[in-house]
Amino acid sequence: MNESEHILRVRNLSKTYMQGKIPVHALSDVSFDVKKGEFMSIVGPSGSGKSTFLSMIGLLDKPTGGSVFIDGIEVTKASDREAPVIRREKIGFVFQHFNLIPTLSALENVDIAMRFARVPKGRRKERAVELLTQMGLRDRMNHKPSELSGGEQQRVAIARAMANYPAIILADEPTGEVDTKTRNMIVALLKELAEKGQTILIVTHDTAVSAQTQRVITMRDGMIASDTKAEQKYT
Ligand SMILES: Nc1ncnc2c1ncn2[C@@H]1O[C@H](COP(=O)(O)OP(=O)(O)OP(=O)(O)O)[C@@H](O)[C@H]1O
Ligand SMILES: [Mg+2]
Repeated sequence: MNESEHILRVRNLSKTYMQGKIPVHALSDVSFDVKKGEFMSIVGPSGSGKSTFLSMIGLLDKPTGGSVFIDGIEVTKASDREAPVIRREKIGFVFQHFNLIPTLSALENVDIAMRFARVPKGRRKERAVELLTQMGLRDRMNHKPSELSGGEQQRVAIARAMANYPAIILADEPTGEVDTKTRNMIVALLKELAEKGQTILIVTHDTAVSAQTQRVITMRDGMIASDTKAEQKYT
C-alpha cells in the first residue's frame, strides 16, 4: 500500500515512566498504520498502555522512543512550541468527562476551538451551527453544559472535536459516563462520521463499543496483542 494513504503511522513507539527508581514500560515498540476514514478501537486491560498511547499520538506527552506520523508529518519531532499548533490543527479530542467549558454555551464551546485556530468570526459561527445541527443539537445551541444531558454534552464535545477538520479524532472512553441508549447513539454518530471519511480511534473498556468498530487493537503490557479487522466492513 502507498504510505501516503495512511493518515496515522506509528513506528516502534515506546514510553517508559519512572516510578521512583523502577521503570514502567507503559508502551513497548508499538507499530501500526491507520487509513483515512478508519473507525477503530483500542481495548485492553487497565494499565495496558491505552491512555499512554493516546497521549503520545495526541501530542500531550513525548515518547521515550519511536515516531508518530500524522498526515505525513512526523509529529514526534515537533518542538514544544509547534506541538500545540499541530494538536489544534490535526487532532480532535473527545474525553470521558466531556471537558466542556461550563460558563460557555454549546455554540461558544465549539466556537472557541476555532478561535484558538484563528478562524474568522463569521466562518466560526457558520461552522459551529452546521456541526451542532449535524449532532442533532440545533435547539440546544444556546444552552450551557449544565443545562444539557450527558449525551448532549458529549455531542457538543464531538462537534468541538470536528471543528477544525482534524486528521484524526482520538476518543478516550467517550461513552464511559453515559447510559446504554446514549452510548449507542454516540457510537452510531461516530460511525456515521467515519463513513463520511473522518478517521476515528476510540479507547474503550466496553466490548459493545469496540464491537461496532471496523478494527480492534487489543493491548497487553504495552504491546499490541492482536489487531483484528471486522470481516463485514461497512460500505
Ligand atoms: N505519569 C505516569 N507515571 C508513571 N507511570 C505511569 C504514568 N502514567 C501511566 N503510568 C503507568 O503506565 C502503565 C500504562 O498506563 P495507562 O494509563 O496507559 O493504562 P490504560 O490502559 O489507559 O489503563 P486504564 O484502562 O486503567 O485507563 C500503567 O502501569 C501505569 O501505572
Ligand atoms: Mg486509560
